[in-house]
Amino acid sequence: SAAEKGGHDYFMLKEIDEQPEALANTLRGHFDRGRIILDEQRLSDQDLRDVDKVFVVACGTAYHSGLIAKYAIEHWTRLPVEVELASEFRYRDPVLDRDTLVVAISQSGETADTLEAVRHARAQKARVLAICNTNGAQIPRESDAVLYTHAGPEVGVAATKTFLAQVAANYLVGLALAQARGTKYPDEVAREFAELEAMPAAVQKALSTVEQVRELGRKLADAKALLFLGRHVGFPVALEGALKLKELAYMHAEGFAAGELKHGPIALIEEGLPVVVVMPSPKGRAVLHAKMVSNISEIQARGARTIVIAEEGDDTVRPYADELVEIPAVPTLLQPLVSSVPLQVLAAEIARARGYDVDKPRNLAKSVTVE
Ligand code: G6P
Repeated sequence: SAAEKGGHDYFMLKEIDEQPEALANTLRGHFDRGRIILDEQRLSDQDLRDVDKVFVVACGTAYHSGLIAKYAIEHWTRLPVEVELASEFRYRDPVLDRDTLVVAISQSGETADTLEAVRHARAQKARVLAICNTNGAQIPRESDAVLYTHAGPEVGVAATKTFLAQVAANYLVGLALAQARGTKYPDEVAREFAELEAMPAAVQKALSTVEQVRELGRKLADAKALLFLGRHVGFPVALEGALKLKELAYMHAEGFAAGELKHGPIALIEEGLPVVVVMPSPKGRAVLHAKMVSNISEIQARGARTIVIAEEGDDTVRPYADELVEIPAVPTLLQPLVSSVPLQVLAAEIARARGYDVDKPRNLAKSVTVE
């Protein structure tokens, strides 16, 4: 009923709206007396110090959150991180031993591919840390450490608030590892945690784009396909934006690393093709920003209809943006928490304009318990 949806047209929009709260709840209680605290911890500080390699395994949207985790964990800990689809990891004979930490990310905690990846890792003596939204699910039960996301139950089949909560939890894991290994000192961890704590308010601000993006979605409902471009942490955001559109609107959509444009995807650009571009902050990594501006000008010159997600006040992109969606300025590594919001809304609204059930896309299940 409409009441259940909190006055929203569909659950997904309600859940998009609940993201500031999901983030705040996921962070709450995890920084105490200068230390990052996990929910369940059967690993010693020594075990964490001994880690010399991290694998992140997951499926679907959780996998995209893992791709974002790589940027933060490598930057903060100097540990090599590989991110892999759970279904590929297990059958590839990955190199694992007791000093390998496998981070398994799963909203449901019951996804068969991810569970089997966890079992495989443990059989090779690797340590497993689970990030999960469901208390006591199978994956956390079989793991050595657990960090729960507190996004609450998610009705929409396409993940939204659980995705943002996973991204936040991944950052906490990165900080916990950095702290145990001594690559970040207590005051630095405190500073990073404070930046994370400011994110629920930033996401709230990003939600002010909802009406603009819904209208844009209605205008794009007849497009044949959409492309998504990003760099750095904006690249996984582009992949997730494309996945959402495939899942909900049954449209052909692809996410690319913007630097790869010239190596192929630019051949797809034709008159009127909508291309969503996730701009990095002009203040964060100036080089990335400049390269993206040049990418947008190239695709616009070839006739693309550019939809640019950019930091507020980023005036350099205006001339190249057919549609400009402004998101709040936040630290570079944390930008996915705000840039993902308009992409979620875009997919949902295109789907709705095409007459589809946004909360129950065809052929998909919320949790996939067969391999
Ligand atoms: C299914 C869902 C996706 C989800 C994936 C992984 O395919 O439709 O939305 O991302 O499973 O689910 P998990 O529960 O492991 O995060």
